[in-house]
Amino acid sequence: MILTASHVSKTFGRGRTAGAKAVNDVTLAVAPGDFTAVVGESGSGKSTVARMLLGLIAPDEGEVAFDGVPLGSMSRAQKMAFRSSVQCVLQDPSAALNPRKSVRDILAEVIRLHGAATGRAAVEEKVREALAIVDLQPTEMYANRLPHQLSGGQRQRVLIARAVILNPSIIIADEAVSALDVSVKAGILNLLNRLRRERNIGYLFITHDLPVVKKVAGDVYVMRSGSVVEHAPKAQLFAAPGSEYTRELLAAAPQPDPVLARAWIRG
Ligand SMILES: Nc1ncnc2c1ncn2[C@@H]1O[C@H](COP(=O)(O)OP(=O)(O)OP(=O)(O)O)[C@@H](O)[C@H]1O
Ligand SMILES: [Mg+2]
Repeated sequence: MILTASHVSKTFGRGRTAGAKAVNDVTLAVAPGDFTAVVGESGSGKSTVARMLLGLIAPDEGEVAFDGVPLGSMSRAQKMAFRSSVQCVLQDPSAALNPRKSVRDILAEVIRLHGAATGRAAVEEKVREALAIVDLQPTEMYANRLPHQLSGGQRQRVLIARAVILNPSIIIADEAVSALDVSVKAGILNLLNRLRRERNIGYLFITHDLPVVKKVAGDVYVMRSGSVVEHAPKAQLFAAPGSEYTRELLAAAPQPDPVLARAWIRG
């Protein structure tokens, strides 16, 4: 169930309007159970890699494959399976959630679209199950809410519920906790880590937040100007950064947050 990008490159625009390569020859992999981080300055190509991994944009060169099958050569059935197995959780939940729909309707829509359950009662049961998994209890109360009637952390939990409902093996999280207060952030990170342990979900966790990486990550990819400049296990990266750029990045990072440190439950 491994998700891979092999030597992918992407340039936006064409001819005279073409920019520099947003992503340049990137190779990376994420498997179930991983907590793989991607770090790097703004504009380094992190989100572009994420969009290619999700099949939202196609690379100009190289290929993305899931379970060894390139996205470009998947059958309809394989593509459907891919769309359930690889989910995303993005930064801004208010933009990702329809403001006019209740949490129940938002979740039910995904359930029906993917045929995860059929019939009113079964769909309702699945909605409750998803809300319980992300600790939005009592589930009945949260199911009735509209997105604006939730806190930022609760909205992020709804997004996670919407991803988890499809029983994914990989979740791509692009700055999923960056906008949250530190204690709320710790709660969401603990939830993600619990889902990793209990459901063997693997994360590609994109963030500029190095204290978070230091807490949660396994492997870390460091990106700069579209390229991966370093790929190493977290401990090695922090103890002995292999590139000058990583050293600068670590030196510029804030110190570990004591609130995060206390709230984090080791997995
Ligand atoms: N749709 C697009 N059209 C044109 N250029 C784009 C598009 N999307 C991204 N880019 C450019 O590609 C480069 C990489 O952008 P990307 O969003 O991948 O960076 P990022 O690492 O996610 O940055 P951030 O940390 O700010 O989210 C940037 O120079 C950006 O301006
Ligand atoms: Mg981005």
